[in-house]
Amino acid sequence: MTPISTNLIDAVRTIPDYPKPGVMFRDITTLLGNARAFRRTVDELVQPWAGAKIDKVAGIEARGFIVGGAVAHQLSAGFVPIRKKGKLPHQTVRMAYALEYGQDEMEMHVDAVHAGERVLLVDDLIATGGTAEGAVKLLRQIGAIVEAACFIVDLPELGGAEKLRAMGVPVRTLMSFEGH
Ligand code: PRP
Ligand code: MG
Repeated sequence: MTPISTNLIDAVRTIPDYPKPGVMFRDITTLLGNARAFRRTVDELVQPWAGAKIDKVAGIEARGFIVGGAVAHQLSAGFVPIRKKGKLPHQTVRMAYALEYGQDEMEMHVDAVHAGERVLLVDDLIATGGTAEGAVKLLRQIGAIVEAACFIVDLPELGGAEKLRAMGVPVRTLMSFEGH
């Protein structure tokens, strides 16, 4: 985890027992709705990449679109949506990814990223890492260079950030919560 002052973490709301008993849901909508917190979040996420040659920011549907769009704008990079299957109109590449129970598929337009382009992957939160792992595989499948992945929230007990690092992807997160 990257150190950060406590007030950003305080902008995240925790909903106990959602969506099921025993789960502590980390709700970033309160952070997004707080102008200062949202701005600082985006500033912190882009900070290591200011001046780096990031060609594209890839955001993962749905919450990754909110953060990824802002990060792309700040970096003057293009934005690439990675979507749940069946939502994109043009020819796509598709990748299966692991969910808590079972699996699903995500898609990206085949021409959204070109081989050799440097991509920053963005999502709001990393838990098991199944979603981000699928996105990295999808991007690499078409020859993109995944420079790094960044997230607002890490749930380190679930091991997702370590999983990505083991794939050779540097990971930056702004805060972490124990207990999930
Ligand atoms: C949440 C979150 C991440 C993913 C993390 O998305 O926004 O994308 O789960 O979980 P993982 O690391 O265990 O894969 P969700 O699939 O709930 O959908 P949403 O973003 O469309 O709300
Ligand atoms: Mg998501």
